[in-house]
Amino acid sequence: MATLDFSDIQGFVLSSYASNMPCANYLLLTINDAASCRSWLTQILGKITAGNERKSDFSLNIAFTASAFLKLGVTPDDLLTFSAPFQEGMSTPLRQQLLGDSGSNAPANWLWGNAQNPVDILLLLFANGEEELKQQLALRETEILNSRGVTLIISLAAGRQPDSKEHFGFLDGIGQPVIEGTGREEKQLNRTGHATVIKAGEFILGYENEMLKPDPLPRALNIPTFGINGTYLVFRQMEQHVHEFWKYLNETTRDASGNSSPQDRDRLGAKMVGRWKSGAPVTTHPHTDPAIPPAVNQDNNFSFAEKDGSGFGCPFGAHIRRTNPRDSLFDDPAISLKTVKRHRIIRRGRSYGDRSADVFIDDGKERGLHFICLNSNIERQFEFIQQSWANNPSFVALNNETDPLIGQRNEGNVFSIQGCPARTRIHNLPEFVTTKGGAYFFMPGMNALKQLAGGF
Ligand code: HEM
Repeated sequence: MATLDFSDIQGFVLSSYASNMPCANYLLLTINDAASCRSWLTQILGKITAGNERKSDFSLNIAFTASAFLKLGVTPDDLLTFSAPFQEGMSTPLRQQLLGDSGSNAPANWLWGNAQNPVDILLLLFANGEEELKQQLALRETEILNSRGVTLIISLAAGRQPDSKEHFGFLDGIGQPVIEGTGREEKQLNRTGHATVIKAGEFILGYENEMLKPDPLPRALNIPTFGINGTYLVFRQMEQHVHEFWKYLNETTRDASGNSSPQDRDRLGAKMVGRWKSGAPVTTHPHTDPAIPPAVNQDNNFSFAEKDGSGFGCPFGAHIRRTNPRDSLFDDPAISLKTVKRHRIIRRGRSYGDRSADVFIDDGKERGLHFICLNSNIERQFEFIQQSWANNPSFVALNNETDPLIGQRNEGNVFSIQGCPARTRIHNLPEFVTTKGGAYFFMPGMNALKQLAGGF
């Protein structure tokens, strides 16, 4: 097993800070002068949280786009050693096609991360409360303003909902791999009854991955090991149309006399997600939400092939079954599990915007998920999940279906719920989520950060 260098890995790679730092703000910056940007980096270096620190007040982490690296003196030749999607950026026509960012999701409509509003740096700030966040935010903004090397493009507020539910109303943050070598297996086992331990190299560069070799180590600034202990960070601002979601579930489940049924609409929502609002898996609770106790809600100790091979509990096309098919991708569960381990991500997203007071009233407010995930190989992990599983209309022999939450919509998209004697098909799924911004970042190790700040 690899020995991880916690002091060189940024803290955010190892922790979401969700339990002790519920308040967060993401600052997106551009670089307008390399030398002044380096001075600003030097100034904030001591505040960047490393993986071996246990902070209780605030945490700060930082990541860079390819354009930032070029501005900071990484040569085009060295940039070629980074992952192709990172070099290219998320909003190019090729990436747009791969990710299904068409129509209202097209980069041309984004608030940031596109050609009109490019970003270079992502500063992630977490705090133990609103007051601390306000203070730290004011300090960071003053440093940015005084630096004259970086400009704030947009400041995105985020924060977990008090009960860890995302805006559609479902418990979030359950299905998460454990990085080998972090010693988190027991904690995960206690919380969810299951721990999928994945080789560190899937999430942190420089270590063995699930193919038993490390992903290529990017080099920069004359340092061949620049990429060590770094990771790629994917950020997508995803607006959630909460009212549309519940209106659709309600209309679709009306009975023959036109009456709506709260139980039926909750059940349809749960079948789309793969978990009930409480978090309980539909594989083990196919008919009703057990709602209690929390141990059941966070249950992650299930597989599909063994208990739910026909999709009668969790439909084949449900969000959690598409994004982590576990042992059900191929006929052989063992081969399936082995393959799926090469396509995992660490999710670090947080909700933004106020929670809907009443999901059946359109209050016109924007709310959604600042989706963030970490991986060593953007193509094999994040993009593969989005393109080959979520957006794939014929995923595991389905037809004209895409992920009910995040899939690209095609003409007349359906969602099927497998059942006996016949499946039920739900027609004309609207788009429940719209991508409003996004970029691929690299989150360097602590030593690489120092090199970036110090020039070369
Ligand atoms: C607004 C957008 C999204 C919403 C509302 C959403 C919601 C959820 C919910 C409720 C769960 C189940 C709870 C859990 O296991 O944590 C879940 C799990 C998951 N989601 Fe999403 N999600 C969104 C976007 C994405 C995206 C863009 C991806 C990747 C491309 C993704 C990948 C996953 C994965 C890998 C899991 C865990 C599956 C498992 O291990 O069982 N999600 N999501």
